[in-house]
Amino acid sequence: MALFITFEGGEGSGKSAQSRVLYAKLTKQAIPVVLTHEPGGTPLGDKMSHLLKWTNDTDISPMTELLLFNAARAQLVTEIVKPSLKKGVIVICDRYADSSIAYQSYGRGLDLEIVKLVNHTATQGLKPDLTFLLNTPSEIGLARKKQQKQDRFERENLAFHQKVRQGYLKLAADESERWLVVDASQSKAKITKLIWQRVSELLPQRRV
Ligand code: TMP
Repeated sequence: MALFITFEGGEGSGKSAQSRVLYAKLTKQAIPVVLTHEPGGTPLGDKMSHLLKWTNDTDISPMTELLLFNAARAQLVTEIVKPSLKKGVIVICDRYADSSIAYQSYGRGLDLEIVKLVNHTATQGLKPDLTFLLNTPSEIGLARKKQQKQDRFERENLAFHQKVRQGYLKLAADESERWLVVDASQSKAKITKLIWQRVSELLPQRRV
């Protein structure tokens, strides 16, 4: 089994940039790696992602939201993540099931056990080996996104994003062996270095 690495964090935390840097570093070393993301990452999932982020004329209920994210996730796991891991390829995913716990449970208030159960079903129980949490105060992250057109989540108020952040920190504390919490206020280069250190530790354990 190869490594399954995920990046999590609130809006504007810089996780997408760091996932791309990690992908580039592994590729440079000729290590087989795939970079994907949620929501989306497959043609079908991208359509659901668009619905989830840009539907403005209908109130999407929290449960519908959870199920749509997980429908896209089920497709990604089946189409990309599992087949890649099976071939011994490292998979980097920018957001994964922990996003649903942070946003749909801690943020929207859905029952935690229900969210975990739906996640478990969609992922077929596949969990990441390593998860980076890019931790940044919500107001700083949101301010970084202010210049762009804002999706349904970015338009949520500060209290929502603070609940998401606290949710992530709780998840990381509860399963500290899987998570590395990175202070996202450090320089990009420092963050890249911390991430690389942790990934390098795991590389020798990789079974191809
Ligand atoms: P992003 O492409 O900017 O990361 O946007 C995805 C948004 O969707 C982000 O605000 C987090 C949210 N999200 C959830 O609420 N639940 C999920 O399970 C996932 C994957 C993302």
